[in-house]
Amino acid sequence: MTTTRTPLIAGNWKMNGTREEARGWAAAAAEALTGSTNDAAVFPPDAWLCDVAEVLASAGGAVALGGQSCCWEPKGAFTGATSAAMLAEVGCRYVLCGHSERRHVFGESDADVAGSMAQALAAGLTPVLCVGETIEEREAGRTQEVLLTQVDAGLGALRGADDPLVIAYEPVWAIGTGKAATPTEAAEAHAWIRARVAETDAERAERVRILYGGSVNPDNIGGFLDVPDVDGALIGGAALDPVKFGLMIRHASTGA
Ligand code: PGA
Repeated sequence: MTTTRTPLIAGNWKMNGTREEARGWAAAAAEALTGSTNDAAVFPPDAWLCDVAEVLASAGGAVALGGQSCCWEPKGAFTGATSAAMLAEVGCRYVLCGHSERRHVFGESDADVAGSMAQALAAGLTPVLCVGETIEEREAGRTQEVLLTQVDAGLGALRGADDPLVIAYEPVWAIGTGKAATPTEAAEAHAWIRARVAETDAERAERVRILYGGSVNPDNIGGFLDVPDVDGALIGGAALDPVKFGLMIRHASTGA
């Protein structure tokens, strides 16, 4: 991992946790990050954002807050959706755009994802552009093509060189399955993604953090953080265990 990019350890809680659990997980993440040189972020369900924001702020604000999704429209008749401006107002710094479950369960297209990114940027949020291939696409030898198509769509939403961006490579077949990619597979995909970013902005490519996600746990995180171009992790299931998530926050800081 390049030392100039601070590792970002992010927990995506998905649709999990009670209000009380959310507050406890947030406090535990803040505690784990104390004394660490890493960055950490949590992505709670929308219903708990205000609670988690309060807990994180009272713990010093080092752990960033993120939304799991935002609408591609700024406001209006979109029942069930959350706007980027709403996320920003409750204290989010990040928002996931195009998480695999948004794409494959809720049917978001690349155009929807680009629209969400545009809204995120307009609201002052840092979009975390999530990309990843299905097992069918990988077995058909289409991984690179699929990833670069998704990356291109996301990059198209950027307004200028100063727009903030994080990218997460999450192979669909590795999410929630216990079958993580190998660090070698992750490094290959991350290199493709970084090279694509470099085609239009070499400086952005150097600074953009590319996270790996998909069945990351305390036992395998070190393997990912040790390979080139992996700048952190986006963690689902294992982030629901505050002890495991804390271990991963601390693990990254040693690079061990
Ligand atoms: P997982 O989820 O760690 O449970 O595989 C990752 C994600 O969906 O971000």
